[in-house]
Amino acid sequence: MCGIVGAIADRNIVPILIEGLRRLEYRGYDSAGVAVLNSSGHLRRLRTVGKVKMLQDAIVETPTDGQLGIAHTRWATHGVPSERNAHPHISRDGIAIVHNGIIENHEELREELTSLGYTFTSETDTEVIAHRIHHHKQKLGDIFRAVRATVAELEGAYALAVVSEDSPDRIILARAGCPVVIGVGNNENFVASDVSALLPVTRKFIFLDEGDVAEIRRQDVRVLDAEGNTAHREVRESALSADAAEKGDYPHFMLKEIFEQPRAVAQTLEERVAGGKLLEAAFGPLATEIFRRTEAVQIVACGTSYHAGAVAKYYIEQIARLPCWVEIASEYRYRNPVVPKNTLFVTISQSGETADTLAALRMAKQSGYLSSLSICNVPESSLVRESELVLLTRAGPEIGVASTKAFTTQLTALGMLVVALAKHHGADAERERGLVQRLIEIPGLIEKTLHLEPTIKELAKRFADKHHALFLGRGQMHPIAMEGALKLKEISYIHAEAYAAGELKHGPLALVDADMPVITVAPNNDLLEKLKSNLQEVRARGGELYVFADPDSGMQSSDGVTIITMPKHVSHFQAAAVYSIPLQLLSYHCAILRGTDVDQPRNLAKSVTVE
Ligand code: M6R
Repeated sequence: MCGIVGAIADRNIVPILIEGLRRLEYRGYDSAGVAVLNSSGHLRRLRTVGKVKMLQDAIVETPTDGQLGIAHTRWATHGVPSERNAHPHISRDGIAIVHNGIIENHEELREELTSLGYTFTSETDTEVIAHRIHHHKQKLGDIFRAVRATVAELEGAYALAVVSEDSPDRIILARAGCPVVIGVGNNENFVASDVSALLPVTRKFIFLDEGDVAEIRRQDVRVLDAEGNTAHREVRESALSADAAEKGDYPHFMLKEIFEQPRAVAQTLEERVAGGKLLEAAFGPLATEIFRRTEAVQIVACGTSYHAGAVAKYYIEQIARLPCWVEIASEYRYRNPVVPKNTLFVTISQSGETADTLAALRMAKQSGYLSSLSICNVPESSLVRESELVLLTRAGPEIGVASTKAFTTQLTALGMLVVALAKHHGADAERERGLVQRLIEIPGLIEKTLHLEPTIKELAKRFADKHHALFLGRGQMHPIAMEGALKLKEISYIHAEAYAAGELKHGPLALVDADMPVITVAPNNDLLEKLKSNLQEVRARGGELYVFADPDSGMQSSDGVTIITMPKHVSHFQAAAVYSIPLQLLSYHCAILRGTDVDQPRNLAKSVTVE
């Protein structure tokens, strides 16, 4: 998704803007731009298609500096990726804006502006906002008031940063539906889509609320809430370090994040499990009472986070014996669900800003659920702030578009939720101790699984030229197969599908031939024998099998069957997290062999803040 950076200071802010954009690259984008007020008070704008590096090169060619400016990375929604559609967009009299989100009523506003004599140079909804601000400023005389008048007319989602030649001492911001954060400095202030962009210049942040309009000057921040009242927004200190979002010695963020998983999972458990017990206050002060009353669970999420929820359904039903439904947010939000009494509504999200998940939460809050719980990786995110209960995954910043450590920490957090629910629904202290112990062992099992990397790297050579792949699993391993297929298609662009292995003979078996690798996750559980029969069906049709199997599965490599032996003693409650690791590594190495952009795969964005 698009990224915003802005700065006002007593020094040249262009390097800060460029570094900020570079740190937002992980969000996904197709073009970049910057607008700076130069020393003679004129707006200078540069825009380029492609990577931030291109913009940086353009700045070297056309030296640009100043003490006030805004910058942007654009992920195309309205209009193709091109220089003229890239932000900042400008209107008359030196007004420049950058915008994240989508304006739904842009066409009618555009028509009105055209009849007022404004000419458009792009196909974007953003340019409409720039001209609207100019239009209002003519009447109201002040840029802050003009922005407030403009946002009152907008339908849709936006985070905006606006500068104007005649107000060289401030940047105006507005937020509705898209995150924006103010970085507080010493006699200088900043703005960005998320804190990671500003970590080299500050650790202090102000998070705007929905409907806020703010102006930042060098020494001052003023915020008005949606009703136009002066609002006090707390300054918070971020615990993240500036190098948390660096690759270090790894060639890609994805590989770094795969190898960070033992630590990330251990951190997610820290201080939350102790002495064989789960400390359920970790979910919030009301958690005990809410879990006691919970009679059913509805989980809503997107993509990888949805797969974590789909695994949790098995655990919640088998271990806590509560009914559980899981749905992708973009579908859930357009249903009119019947909500059974005392149902807990759970959202799962790495970013906490996914538009569909957030909309589903807002809808759920009006639909009679018992309470809402968010499992999320970003403490300051909208989802966290709007949920009654929260359990933060402590994965640290995940920069690779492909979710890896966010997924296994979500599974861990969901494991804690299962224990909490089970405690109130029949599990005794011994059962709790056993489950907690299983959770504590996960980091060590992941560590051992990571030792398979050289084997998997070799294996990837047999996939790299394939056009299709099938992933199979049964029970809670079906969502893990789905996650494996998503990873492979997302970063290597190999078409991959996942099936519950028992479903194969109802159609997909027709696809199986020697050219279709079939990748299977086979822990030692009560479905193993059934799974083996399904694999026979594949082998009998000449399908090439690659099975990640428990050492006690009794399976051995043979003609057309490659067994990759996983660590010993992986229990039912641990298998989802542990067996997802080799699938992440397989996708990564296939993508490397195919030469794709692993961390920023084509067409995708890290944080999907549009519907
Ligand atoms: O931030 P979220 O977890 O809400 O994002 C949801 C999906 O967009 C995300 O999980 C996506 O599927 C992954 N990048 C895939 O690896």
